[in-house]
Amino acid sequence: MKKLLVCALLAAVMAAVPAFAKKSYVNGIDPNYPPFAYVDEKTGQPAGFDVDSLNWIAKNMGFEITHKPMAWDGIIPALVAKQIDMVDSGMSITPERAKVVEFSDPYWTVSRVFLVPANSTLTPQDVLTKKVKLGVQRGTSEANAIKQEQQEKGYPFELRFYESAPLAVEDLLNGRIEVALMDELPADDAISKGRGVKKAGTHGEPDKFGVAMRKDDKELQKLINDGYKKLMADPYWQELQKKYLNK
Ligand code: ARG
Repeated sequence: MKKLLVCALLAAVMAAVPAFAKKSYVNGIDPNYPPFAYVDEKTGQPAGFDVDSLNWIAKNMGFEITHKPMAWDGIIPALVAKQIDMVDSGMSITPERAKVVEFSDPYWTVSRVFLVPANSTLTPQDVLTKKVKLGVQRGTSEANAIKQEQQEKGYPFELRFYESAPLAVEDLLNGRIEVALMDELPADDAISKGRGVKKAGTHGEPDKFGVAMRKDDKELQKLINDGYKKLMADPYWQELQKKYLNK
């Protein structure tokens, strides 16, 4: 009995003293990016490949983690302003972002695809040569890349910007746009949910996903890079791929 009391007391003291307490970090997520990050309809909890990966890493590297849903468009400014500590949420490593934040080693590679309604006959060639309405998620690497390509090559499409990928899919289905450009896995997610859409083809070079952190946060950078190495060597990594990415 006495022993138990001492133990409880010790645990309470350790939790209260910063040197002993577990570090806790906040991950910013776009909650509308299945299968990488989303809010589970049944539990109301953040879920997805990235969320579960990071939960495993936190447990195994000894830190606390919470996931904060927010708008993708403002997620890097929020990181810089210390409202969050990292972005592990399907974020592509790009040279522009790397000027502002530090990326972990890449943990996944994805192609970009053109998504069209299931009955569409548009080809990738049509998308680049006709006056189609093309939807992209605002603030994404694909939005910036396609905007730049249009400026350089004078493509005639009209760009429409969306807050999230599912909203672009909505507009595809009700005919407001003819095609959307997005990462392949969220596109596959929409297809597998029977949304009446299909892939018309890939576009550009594949993206590499990494975790964004503040440049001066060396401690977290090490935890994340070491954590992913550990995770990738564990059978759980295969389990996650099977669960979320159909691998
Ligand atoms: N890969 C693209 C990017 O980094 C799209 C990401 C959108 N991800 C998300 N969680 N909304 O910009």
